[in-house]
Amino acid sequence: MAISKTTYDLSIFLLLLLTISSSPFLISATNSSTTTYNVLSFGAKPDGLTDSTEGFLSAWAAACASESVAVICVPRGRFLLRSLAFKGECRSPKIGFKIDGTLVAPADYRVLRENDKWISFEGVSHVSVVGGRLDARGAALWACKLAAAGGANCPGGATTLSFTNSKDIKIIGLMSLNSQMFHIVINACSNVQIQGVKVIADGNSPNTDGIHVQLSTNVVIKGSTVKTGDDCISVGPGTKNLWIEHVACGPGHGISIGSLGGELVEAGVQNVTVKNASFTGTQNGLRIKAWAKPSSGFVKGVQFEDVTMRNVQNPIIIDQNYCPHNIDCPSQVSGIKISDVVYQGIRGTSATPVAIKFDCSAANPCTGIKLQDVNLNCLNQAAESSCTNVNGKAFGIVQPNGCL
Ligand SMILES: *[C@@H]1O[C@H](CO)[C@@H](O)[C@H](O)[C@H]1NC(C)=O
Ligand SMILES: *[C@@H]1O[C@H](CO)[C@@H](O)[C@H](O)[C@H]1NC(C)=O
Ligand SMILES: *[C@@H]1O[C@H](CO)[C@@H](O)[C@H](O)[C@H]1NC(C)=O
Repeated sequence: MAISKTTYDLSIFLLLLLTISSSPFLISATNSSTTTYNVLSFGAKPDGLTDSTEGFLSAWAAACASESVAVICVPRGRFLLRSLAFKGECRSPKIGFKIDGTLVAPADYRVLRENDKWISFEGVSHVSVVGGRLDARGAALWACKLAAAGGANCPGGATTLSFTNSKDIKIIGLMSLNSQMFHIVINACSNVQIQGVKVIADGNSPNTDGIHVQLSTNVVIKGSTVKTGDDCISVGPGTKNLWIEHVACGPGHGISIGSLGGELVEAGVQNVTVKNASFTGTQNGLRIKAWAKPSSGFVKGVQFEDVTMRNVQNPIIIDQNYCPHNIDCPSQVSGIKISDVVYQGIRGTSATPVAIKFDCSAANPCTGIKLQDVNLNCLNQAAESSCTNVNGKAFGIVQPNGCL
């Protein structure tokens, strides 16, 4: 019969289709299906008042358990979140947060005080965070820290967004506002891409580093803007293969390798590139800083290239006697070995006469320092350079000159 023949053919066809589409090999060879999890379906409320922490954690749990690629959607609106940690190991091969809304921290900074992290990812892989605004509402905590001498009675505050022990991470098009402490921390991770990120906090806000990287390999930070009260990007011990390109900093304390030498035994920093960056009104531009302690660490292979300074207090600085508040300074000799640092195509204005300062360790002089095509001027005064315990060479036009 014609009808049953058609039905028969159709069921064979469907069976075939099912077989094909459920074969893991074919799925990964063609494309994988994506499952979407909307945080609203898990109880999150976009009203800025209802605690949405459990809703976000439930959406993560579902995405993490999914066999397919998972996308967690955060629609427009404000979502109030306490401290929350998104943890691996996940069954899903890939999880993306697609954020259109704003995640807000509790108005009272003491709610986060027992945790040093607000939104954290731990032990995850193939995770991306795309878009969104994170508003940590840090201003009240900064005021507490600035009022009490040294912030004695204020909590330390929470890092806004952190990834720990994770790999294959992307953070794209995110905005982080008014963090209590560091805005973004990459700790013990590999293969991390940060792109099109904006960090905004007051120029006087204490310890609000923009992006901090440590103990991590293959990290790329591109096309991002950081306006904050502390380092724009800070590079801690154990960082290897870090690429920073097309980043605009200011206000803040500039791009810093360090502080190093906090611990006596410390992993080194190697292969860092900073390219096409600009600094506007910052305390430092390109800085390497270490405490004057006999630590085991090193900094090796740094390339600073194509950088514009506008009214920067210390455009180029290596400081191996770092002691920011001049209180309880270690006053020993830095054990950090700094070598092969290239400054090429650095131009613009210094806000102080000393535009280039190398204050290296008497026990471990800096070696292989290269200045090439550097042109830094100081308004109303001649710019100067200052060198202590440094070996290196100048090539092309180097202004101010006379130190290497
Ligand atoms: C997978 O393929 C189907 C059909 O070819 C297509 O409609 C779908 O958009 C693809 N999905 C992804 C995630 O590429
Ligand atoms: C240095 O790091 C870059 C990425 O930032 C990488 O492409 C390059 O291969 C690394 N060089 C060495 C010698 O490892
Ligand atoms: C350097 O950055 C500027 C903007 O800050 C951009 O317009 C320019 O294309 C960049 N140059 C390169 C070579 O990437």
